[in-house]
Amino acid sequence: NEYPDLVIVGAGLFGLTVAQQAVEKLGVNVRIIDVRDHIGGNAYSYMDPETGAEIHKYGAHLFHTSNKRVWDYVNRFTSFTDYVHRVYATHDGEVYPLPINLGTVNQFFRAHYTPAEAKALIEEQAGELAGTDPANLNDQGISLIGRPLYEAFIKNYTAKQWQTDPSELPASIIKRLPVRFNYNNRYFKDTWEGLPVDGYTAWFEKMIDDPRIEVSLNTDFFDESQPYNKRALLEAGVPVVYTGPVDRYFDYDLGELKWRTVDFKEVRYDEGDHFGCPVMNFSDADVPYTRAIEFKNFNPERADQQNPDKTVVWEEYSRFADRDDEPYYPINTEADKALYAQYKQKAAEEPNVVFGGRLGTYAYYDMHNVIDQALTAYEEQIEPMLKKD
Ligand code: FDA
Repeated sequence: NEYPDLVIVGAGLFGLTVAQQAVEKLGVNVRIIDVRDHIGGNAYSYMDPETGAEIHKYGAHLFHTSNKRVWDYVNRFTSFTDYVHRVYATHDGEVYPLPINLGTVNQFFRAHYTPAEAKALIEEQAGELAGTDPANLNDQGISLIGRPLYEAFIKNYTAKQWQTDPSELPASIIKRLPVRFNYNNRYFKDTWEGLPVDGYTAWFEKMIDDPRIEVSLNTDFFDESQPYNKRALLEAGVPVVYTGPVDRYFDYDLGELKWRTVDFKEVRYDEGDHFGCPVMNFSDADVPYTRAIEFKNFNPERADQQNPDKTVVWEEYSRFADRDDEPYYPINTEADKALYAQYKQKAAEEPNVVFGGRLGTYAYYDMHNVIDQALTAYEEQIEPMLKKD
Protein backbone atom coordinates (compact mmCIF):
# COMPACT_ATOMS: atom_id res chain seq x y z
CA ASN A 1 0.00 0.00 0.00
CA GLU A 2 0.93 3.64 -0.52
CA TYR A 3 0.61 4.78 3.07
CA PRO A 4 3.34 6.87 4.75
CA ASP A 5 5.04 5.69 7.97
CA LEU A 6 3.02 8.12 10.08
CA VAL A 7 -0.19 10.11 9.56
CA ILE A 8 -0.73 13.19 11.71
CA VAL A 9 -4.24 14.58 12.01
CA GLY A 10 -3.96 18.32 12.62
CA ALA A 11 -1.30 20.78 11.44
CA GLY A 12 -1.29 22.74 14.72
CA LEU A 13 1.80 23.10 16.89
CA PHE A 14 1.43 19.61 18.34
CA GLY A 15 1.22 17.97 14.91
CA LEU A 16 3.99 20.08 13.37
CA THR A 17 6.36 19.35 16.26
CA VAL A 18 5.74 15.61 16.03
CA ALA A 19 6.24 15.64 12.24
CA GLN A 20 9.50 17.55 12.55
CA GLN A 21 10.80 15.18 15.24
CA ALA A 22 9.82 11.98 13.42
CA VAL A 23 11.67 13.05 10.27
CA GLU A 24 14.71 14.35 12.12
CA LYS A 25 15.08 11.39 14.46
CA LEU A 26 13.99 8.44 12.29
CA GLY A 27 13.90 9.76 8.72
CA VAL A 28 10.39 8.40 8.21
CA ASN A 29 7.80 9.69 5.74
CA VAL A 30 5.00 11.70 7.29
CA ARG A 31 1.66 12.87 5.98
CA ILE A 32 -0.06 15.69 7.86
CA ILE A 33 -3.74 16.26 7.14
CA ASP A 34 -5.84 19.21 8.27
CA VAL A 35 -9.47 19.99 7.64
CA ARG A 36 -8.64 23.70 7.39
CA ASP A 37 -7.09 25.39 4.37
CA HIS A 38 -3.89 26.35 6.21
CA ILE A 39 -1.28 24.97 8.59
CA GLY A 40 -0.58 26.30 12.11
CA GLY A 41 -3.85 25.37 13.80
CA ASN A 42 -5.12 28.11 16.06
CA ALA A 43 -1.79 29.93 16.03
CA TYR A 44 -2.11 30.64 12.28
CA SER A 45 -1.88 34.26 11.10
CA TYR A 46 -2.04 36.12 7.77
CA MET A 47 -1.01 39.53 6.48
CA ASP A 48 -3.77 42.08 5.98
CA PRO A 49 -3.02 43.82 2.66
CA GLU A 50 -4.78 47.09 3.49
CA THR A 51 -3.06 47.88 6.79
CA GLY A 52 0.04 45.67 6.78
CA ALA A 53 -1.11 44.14 10.07
CA GLU A 54 -0.43 40.46 10.84
CA ILE A 55 -3.85 39.16 11.85
CA HIS A 56 -3.98 36.21 14.24
CA LYS A 57 -7.02 34.50 12.79
CA TYR A 58 -8.06 32.60 15.94
CA GLY A 59 -7.32 35.30 18.51
CA ALA A 60 -4.17 37.08 19.72
CA HIS A 61 -1.17 34.76 20.12
CA LEU A 62 1.81 35.87 22.18
CA PHE A 63 4.71 33.52 22.55
CA HIS A 64 6.25 33.24 26.02
CA THR A 65 8.06 30.50 27.93
CA SER A 66 10.46 29.77 30.76
CA ASN A 67 11.21 26.31 29.36
CA LYS A 68 14.77 26.20 27.99
CA ARG A 69 14.13 23.10 25.88
CA VAL A 70 11.16 24.78 24.18
CA TRP A 71 12.92 28.13 23.74
CA ASP A 72 15.94 26.45 22.10
CA TYR A 73 13.65 24.36 19.92
CA VAL A 74 11.52 27.22 18.58
CA ASN A 75 14.59 29.34 17.89
CA ARG A 76 15.71 26.77 15.34
CA PHE A 77 12.83 27.85 13.11
CA THR A 78 12.36 31.55 13.77
CA SER A 79 13.82 34.41 15.70
CA PHE A 80 11.63 36.54 17.95
CA THR A 81 11.05 40.28 18.22
CA ASP A 82 11.60 42.06 21.51
CA TYR A 83 7.84 42.58 21.93
CA VAL A 84 6.75 42.68 25.57
CA HIS A 85 3.06 42.08 26.22
CA ARG A 86 1.11 44.77 28.08
CA VAL A 87 -2.64 45.11 28.39
CA TYR A 88 -4.83 48.12 29.20
CA ALA A 89 -8.46 48.31 30.30
CA THR A 90 -11.14 50.91 29.70
CA HIS A 91 -13.37 51.41 32.73
CA ASP A 92 -15.87 54.22 33.31
CA GLY A 93 -14.29 56.56 30.79
CA GLU A 94 -10.68 56.00 31.82
CA VAL A 95 -7.85 53.76 30.69
CA TYR A 96 -5.99 51.76 33.35
CA PRO A 97 -2.96 49.47 33.20
CA LEU A 98 -3.42 45.73 33.80
CA PRO A 99 -2.79 43.31 35.46
CA ILE A 100 -4.01 45.26 38.51
CA ASN A 101 -0.89 46.93 39.90
CA LEU A 102 0.01 49.92 42.02
CA GLY A 103 -0.59 52.19 39.01
CA THR A 104 -4.11 50.79 38.61
CA VAL A 105 -4.82 51.08 42.35
CA ASN A 106 -3.56 54.64 42.68
CA GLN A 107 -5.39 55.81 39.55
CA PHE A 108 -8.59 54.12 40.69
CA PHE A 109 -8.55 55.52 44.24
CA ARG A 110 -7.04 58.87 43.16
CA ALA A 111 -4.27 58.23 45.65
CA HIS A 112 -0.52 57.99 46.04
CA TYR A 113 -0.38 54.88 48.19
CA THR A 114 2.92 53.23 48.89
CA PRO A 115 3.05 49.46 48.28
CA ALA A 116 2.40 48.79 51.98
CA GLU A 117 -0.52 51.22 52.17
CA ALA A 118 -2.14 49.76 49.05
CA LYS A 119 -1.69 46.25 50.39
CA ALA A 120 -3.31 47.16 53.71
CA LEU A 121 -6.24 48.84 51.95
CA ILE A 122 -6.93 45.87 49.71
CA GLU A 123 -6.64 43.40 52.57
CA GLU A 124 -9.18 45.45 54.48
CA GLN A 125 -11.57 45.58 51.51
CA ALA A 126 -11.10 41.87 50.82
CA GLY A 127 -12.15 41.20 54.41
CA GLU A 128 -15.74 42.21 53.66
CA LEU A 129 -16.90 38.61 53.57
CA ALA A 130 -14.40 37.32 56.13
CA GLY A 131 -15.40 34.10 57.84
CA THR A 132 -17.70 32.95 55.02
CA ASP A 133 -16.91 30.44 52.30
CA PRO A 134 -17.27 32.11 48.87
CA ALA A 135 -20.49 30.62 47.49
CA ASN A 136 -19.97 31.85 43.92
CA LEU A 137 -17.53 33.72 41.71
CA ASN A 138 -18.82 37.10 42.87
CA ASP A 139 -18.04 36.37 46.52
CA GLN A 140 -14.75 34.82 45.53
CA GLY A 141 -13.71 37.97 43.61
CA ILE A 142 -14.64 40.22 46.55
CA SER A 143 -12.71 37.97 48.96
CA LEU A 144 -9.62 38.07 46.78
CA ILE A 145 -9.27 41.80 45.97
CA GLY A 146 -12.17 43.61 47.66
CA ARG A 147 -15.40 44.84 46.15
CA PRO A 148 -14.28 48.14 44.52
CA LEU A 149 -11.53 46.68 42.32
CA TYR A 150 -13.45 43.46 41.69
CA GLU A 151 -16.54 45.30 40.48
CA ALA A 152 -14.52 47.73 38.35
CA PHE A 153 -12.18 45.31 36.56
CA ILE A 154 -13.33 41.71 36.98
CA LYS A 155 -17.08 41.40 37.47
CA ASN A 156 -18.49 42.60 34.15
CA TYR A 157 -15.57 41.28 32.13
CA THR A 158 -16.14 37.82 33.58
CA ALA A 159 -19.89 38.10 33.01
CA LYS A 160 -19.20 38.84 29.33
CA GLN A 161 -16.71 35.97 29.07
CA TRP A 162 -19.23 33.48 30.44
CA GLN A 163 -22.47 35.14 29.34
CA THR A 164 -23.54 34.43 32.92
CA ASP A 165 -23.91 36.58 36.03
CA PRO A 166 -20.85 35.88 38.24
CA SER A 167 -23.18 35.27 41.20
CA GLU A 168 -24.31 32.18 39.27
CA LEU A 169 -20.80 30.99 38.38
CA PRO A 170 -18.79 28.61 40.59
CA ALA A 171 -16.15 30.25 42.80
CA SER A 172 -13.62 27.75 41.46
CA ILE A 173 -13.33 29.55 38.09
CA ILE A 174 -11.08 32.17 39.71
CA LYS A 175 -8.51 30.74 42.11
CA ARG A 176 -6.23 33.77 42.28
CA LEU A 177 -6.49 37.42 41.34
CA PRO A 178 -2.97 38.72 41.59
CA VAL A 179 -2.49 42.38 42.53
CA ARG A 180 1.02 43.70 42.07
CA PHE A 181 2.14 46.18 44.67
CA ASN A 182 4.55 47.88 42.31
CA TYR A 183 4.27 49.55 38.89
CA ASN A 184 5.29 46.51 36.84
CA ASN A 185 2.63 45.97 34.18
CA ARG A 186 4.56 43.44 32.13
CA TYR A 187 1.85 40.83 31.49
CA PHE A 188 3.89 37.62 31.42
CA LYS A 189 6.46 36.60 34.01
CA ASP A 190 8.29 34.16 31.74
CA THR A 191 12.00 34.29 31.03
CA TRP A 192 11.49 34.66 27.27
CA GLU A 193 8.81 36.28 25.18
CA GLY A 194 8.40 37.77 21.72
CA LEU A 195 6.68 37.42 18.38
CA PRO A 196 8.09 35.52 15.39
CA VAL A 197 10.03 38.04 13.30
CA ASP A 198 8.58 36.95 9.94
CA GLY A 199 5.20 35.97 11.34
CA TYR A 200 3.70 32.75 12.67
CA THR A 201 3.14 31.10 9.30
CA ALA A 202 6.77 31.48 8.18
CA TRP A 203 7.82 29.83 11.46
CA PHE A 204 5.47 26.89 10.92
CA GLU A 205 6.48 26.40 7.27
CA LYS A 206 10.12 26.21 8.34
CA MET A 207 9.31 23.44 10.83
CA ILE A 208 8.08 21.11 8.10
CA ASP A 209 10.33 22.22 5.25
CA ASP A 210 11.44 18.69 4.32
CA PRO A 211 10.51 16.53 1.32
CA ARG A 212 9.61 13.64 3.66
CA ILE A 213 6.75 15.69 5.12
CA GLU A 214 3.68 16.12 2.95
CA VAL A 215 0.60 18.12 3.86
CA SER A 216 -2.98 17.61 2.70
CA LEU A 217 -5.19 20.60 3.52
CA ASN A 218 -9.00 20.68 3.36
CA THR A 219 -8.83 17.03 4.37
CA ASP A 220 -11.09 15.67 7.10
CA PHE A 221 -9.96 12.54 8.98
CA PHE A 222 -13.59 11.39 9.13
CA ASP A 223 -14.26 11.83 5.40
CA GLU A 224 -14.04 8.33 3.94
CA SER A 225 -13.74 9.65 0.40
CA GLN A 226 -10.15 10.74 1.08
CA PRO A 227 -7.37 8.15 1.55
CA TYR A 228 -6.13 9.23 5.02
CA ASN A 229 -9.41 8.58 6.80
CA LYS A 230 -9.88 6.93 10.17
CA ARG A 231 -11.36 3.66 8.96
CA ALA A 232 -8.78 3.07 6.21
CA LEU A 233 -5.78 3.93 8.38
CA LEU A 234 -6.97 1.78 11.28
CA GLU A 235 -7.60 -1.16 8.98
CA ALA A 236 -4.15 -0.83 7.43
CA GLY A 237 -2.55 -0.43 10.89
CA VAL A 238 -0.85 2.86 9.97
CA PRO A 239 0.45 4.76 13.03
CA VAL A 240 -1.64 7.87 13.64
CA VAL A 241 -1.20 10.96 15.81
CA TYR A 242 -4.62 12.51 16.34
CA THR A 243 -4.93 16.15 17.53
CA GLY A 244 -8.63 16.69 16.77
CA PRO A 245 -11.39 16.61 19.41
CA VAL A 246 -11.25 13.37 21.42
CA ASP A 247 -15.06 13.08 21.70
CA ARG A 248 -15.43 13.48 17.93
CA TYR A 249 -12.96 10.61 17.38
CA PHE A 250 -15.31 8.28 19.25
CA ASP A 251 -18.40 9.69 17.53
CA TYR A 252 -19.46 11.41 20.80
CA ASP A 253 -20.63 8.01 21.99
CA LEU A 254 -20.18 8.87 25.70
CA GLY A 255 -21.44 12.45 25.27
CA GLU A 256 -20.02 15.84 24.30
CA LEU A 257 -17.23 17.75 26.02
CA LYS A 258 -18.19 21.40 26.44
CA TRP A 259 -16.22 24.44 25.25
CA ARG A 260 -16.46 28.21 25.04
CA THR A 261 -15.81 29.97 21.76
CA VAL A 262 -15.10 33.54 20.66
CA ASP A 263 -16.67 35.44 17.76
CA PHE A 264 -14.49 38.09 16.18
CA LYS A 265 -15.92 41.27 14.68
CA GLU A 266 -13.54 43.12 12.38
CA VAL A 267 -13.64 46.94 12.46
CA ARG A 268 -11.53 49.15 10.20
CA TYR A 269 -10.56 52.72 11.08
CA ASP A 270 -9.24 55.50 8.83
CA GLU A 271 -6.52 56.35 11.28
CA GLY A 272 -3.02 55.08 11.87
CA ASP A 273 -3.48 53.94 15.45
CA HIS A 274 -6.80 53.52 17.24
CA PHE A 275 -5.90 52.40 20.77
CA GLY A 276 -2.19 53.14 21.02
CA CYS A 277 -1.66 49.56 22.28
CA PRO A 278 -2.34 46.04 20.96
CA VAL A 279 -4.92 44.86 23.51
CA MET A 280 -7.66 46.96 25.13
CA ASN A 281 -9.97 45.24 27.60
CA PHE A 282 -13.41 46.68 28.20
CA SER A 283 -14.31 46.16 31.84
CA ASP A 284 -17.84 47.55 31.79
CA ALA A 285 -21.20 46.03 30.89
CA ASP A 286 -22.16 48.75 28.38
CA VAL A 287 -19.57 47.52 25.85
CA PRO A 288 -20.75 44.10 24.65
CA TYR A 289 -17.31 42.72 23.73
CA THR A 290 -14.66 41.68 26.24
CA ARG A 291 -11.63 43.12 24.53
CA ALA A 292 -10.34 44.41 21.21
CA ILE A 293 -7.08 43.56 19.43
CA GLU A 294 -5.27 46.11 17.25
CA PHE A 295 -2.91 43.80 15.40
CA LYS A 296 -0.62 46.48 13.90
CA ASN A 297 0.56 47.33 17.40
CA PHE A 298 1.99 43.86 17.98
CA ASN A 299 4.65 44.64 15.39
CA PRO A 300 5.83 48.25 15.77
CA GLU A 301 9.14 47.18 14.22
CA ARG A 302 7.29 46.78 10.89
CA ALA A 303 6.12 50.42 10.78
CA ASP A 304 7.67 50.95 7.34
CA GLN A 305 5.57 48.10 5.89
CA GLN A 306 2.33 49.25 7.54
CA ASN A 307 -0.24 51.74 6.28
CA PRO A 308 0.16 54.94 8.33
CA ASP A 309 -3.47 55.98 7.70
CA LYS A 310 -5.42 52.78 8.38
CA THR A 311 -5.77 50.22 11.10
CA VAL A 312 -7.80 47.07 11.75
CA VAL A 313 -9.26 46.00 15.08
CA TRP A 314 -10.95 42.73 16.10
CA GLU A 315 -13.54 42.88 18.85
CA GLU A 316 -14.00 39.63 20.81
CA TYR A 317 -17.40 38.30 21.83
CA SER A 318 -17.30 35.24 24.04
CA ARG A 319 -20.02 32.56 24.28
CA PHE A 320 -20.73 28.86 24.80
CA ALA A 321 -19.78 26.75 21.78
CA ASP A 322 -22.05 24.47 19.79
CA ARG A 323 -20.68 21.43 18.02
CA ASP A 324 -20.12 23.45 14.82
CA ASP A 325 -18.26 26.31 16.52
CA GLU A 326 -14.50 26.57 17.01
CA PRO A 327 -13.82 25.07 20.46
CA TYR A 328 -11.48 27.51 22.30
CA TYR A 329 -11.63 27.19 26.07
CA PRO A 330 -12.63 23.92 27.79
CA ILE A 331 -15.39 24.60 30.31
CA ASN A 332 -14.14 21.82 32.56
CA THR A 333 -17.07 21.38 34.93
CA GLU A 334 -16.89 18.32 37.16
CA ALA A 335 -19.12 16.55 34.63
CA ASP A 336 -16.75 17.46 31.79
CA LYS A 337 -13.76 16.21 33.78
CA ALA A 338 -15.46 12.90 34.50
CA LEU A 339 -16.45 12.50 30.86
CA TYR A 340 -12.94 13.30 29.66
CA ALA A 341 -11.51 10.70 32.06
CA GLN A 342 -13.66 8.08 30.29
CA TYR A 343 -12.59 9.23 26.83
CA LYS A 344 -8.98 9.27 27.96
CA GLN A 345 -9.29 5.62 28.94
CA LYS A 346 -10.74 4.74 25.53
CA ALA A 347 -8.00 6.72 23.80
CA ALA A 348 -5.30 4.82 25.69
CA GLU A 349 -6.77 1.54 24.44
CA GLU A 350 -6.80 2.63 20.78
CA PRO A 351 -4.00 0.68 19.07
CA ASN A 352 -1.52 2.62 16.90
CA VAL A 353 -3.10 5.99 17.73
CA VAL A 354 -1.57 8.64 19.99
CA PHE A 355 -3.89 11.45 21.11
CA GLY A 356 -2.35 14.86 21.69
CA GLY A 357 -2.75 18.61 21.66
CA ARG A 358 -5.45 20.72 23.25
CA LEU A 359 -8.39 19.07 21.48
CA GLY A 360 -7.09 15.53 21.79
CA THR A 361 -6.66 15.91 25.56
CA TYR A 362 -9.47 18.43 26.33
CA ALA A 363 -7.29 21.12 27.93
CA TYR A 364 -6.23 24.73 27.52
CA TYR A 365 -2.53 24.91 26.76
CA ASP A 366 -0.33 27.78 25.72
CA MET A 367 1.87 27.24 22.69
CA HIS A 368 4.98 26.50 24.73
CA ASN A 369 3.05 23.85 26.73
CA VAL A 370 1.90 22.14 23.56
CA ILE A 371 5.40 22.09 22.06
CA ASP A 372 6.82 20.67 25.29
CA GLN A 373 4.13 18.00 25.39
CA ALA A 374 4.67 17.11 21.75
CA LEU A 375 8.43 16.68 22.32
CA THR A 376 7.72 14.41 25.29
CA ALA A 377 4.95 12.48 23.53
CA TYR A 378 7.29 11.95 20.59
CA GLU A 379 9.99 10.46 22.82
CA GLU A 380 7.73 8.40 25.07
CA GLN A 381 4.92 7.24 22.80
CA ILE A 382 5.36 8.07 19.14
CA GLU A 383 8.93 6.98 18.50
CA PRO A 384 8.29 3.61 20.23
CA MET A 385 5.13 3.21 18.09
CA LEU A 386 7.11 3.90 14.89
CA LYS A 387 9.95 1.55 15.85
CA LYS A 388 7.51 -1.29 16.50
CA ASP A 389 6.73 -1.67 12.78
P1 FDA B 1 -4.69 23.33 17.27
O1 FDA B 1 -6.12 23.54 17.55
O2 FDA B 1 -3.85 24.52 17.00
O3 FDA B 1 -4.53 22.33 16.05
C1 FDA B 1 -5.41 21.23 15.87
C2 FDA B 1 -5.63 21.07 14.38
O4 FDA B 1 -6.36 19.87 14.14
C3 FDA B 1 -6.46 22.21 13.78
O5 FDA B 1 -5.74 22.84 12.75
C4 FDA B 1 -7.70 21.50 13.27
O6 FDA B 1 -8.19 22.06 12.06
C5 FDA B 1 -7.20 20.08 13.04
N1 FDA B 1 -8.28 19.09 13.04
C6 FDA B 1 -9.25 18.92 13.96
N2 FDA B 1 -10.10 17.94 13.58
C7 FDA B 1 -9.66 17.47 12.39
C8 FDA B 1 -10.12 16.47 11.48
N3 FDA B 1 -11.24 15.77 11.72
N4 FDA B 1 -9.42 16.25 10.35
C9 FDA B 1 -8.31 16.97 10.08
N5 FDA B 1 -7.83 17.94 10.90
C10 FDA B 1 -8.50 18.19 12.04
N6 FDA B 1 -1.08 30.30 23.35
C11 FDA B 1 -0.02 31.07 23.69
O7 FDA B 1 1.06 30.54 23.95
N7 FDA B 1 -0.14 32.43 23.70
C12 FDA B 1 -1.30 33.06 23.40
O8 FDA B 1 -1.37 34.29 23.44
C13 FDA B 1 -2.43 32.26 23.05
N8 FDA B 1 -3.62 32.83 22.73
C14 FDA B 1 -4.73 32.06 22.47
C15 FDA B 1 -5.95 32.67 22.19
C16 FDA B 1 -7.07 31.89 21.95
C17 FDA B 1 -8.40 32.56 21.65
C18 FDA B 1 -6.96 30.48 22.00
C19 FDA B 1 -8.17 29.62 21.79
C20 FDA B 1 -5.74 29.89 22.23
C21 FDA B 1 -4.60 30.67 22.48
N9 FDA B 1 -3.37 30.09 22.72
C22 FDA B 1 -2.29 30.88 23.04
C23 FDA B 1 -3.20 28.62 22.71
C24 FDA B 1 -2.74 28.04 21.37
O9 FDA B 1 -3.68 28.36 20.37
C25 FDA B 1 -2.60 26.52 21.52
O10 FDA B 1 -1.63 26.23 22.48
C26 FDA B 1 -2.18 25.80 20.24
O11 FDA B 1 -2.89 26.25 19.14
C27 FDA B 1 -2.45 24.33 20.43
O12 FDA B 1 -1.98 23.59 19.31
P2 FDA B 1 -2.61 22.18 18.99
O13 FDA B 1 -1.80 21.60 17.91
O14 FDA B 1 -2.81 21.41 20.23
O15 FDA B 1 -4.11 22.50 18.50
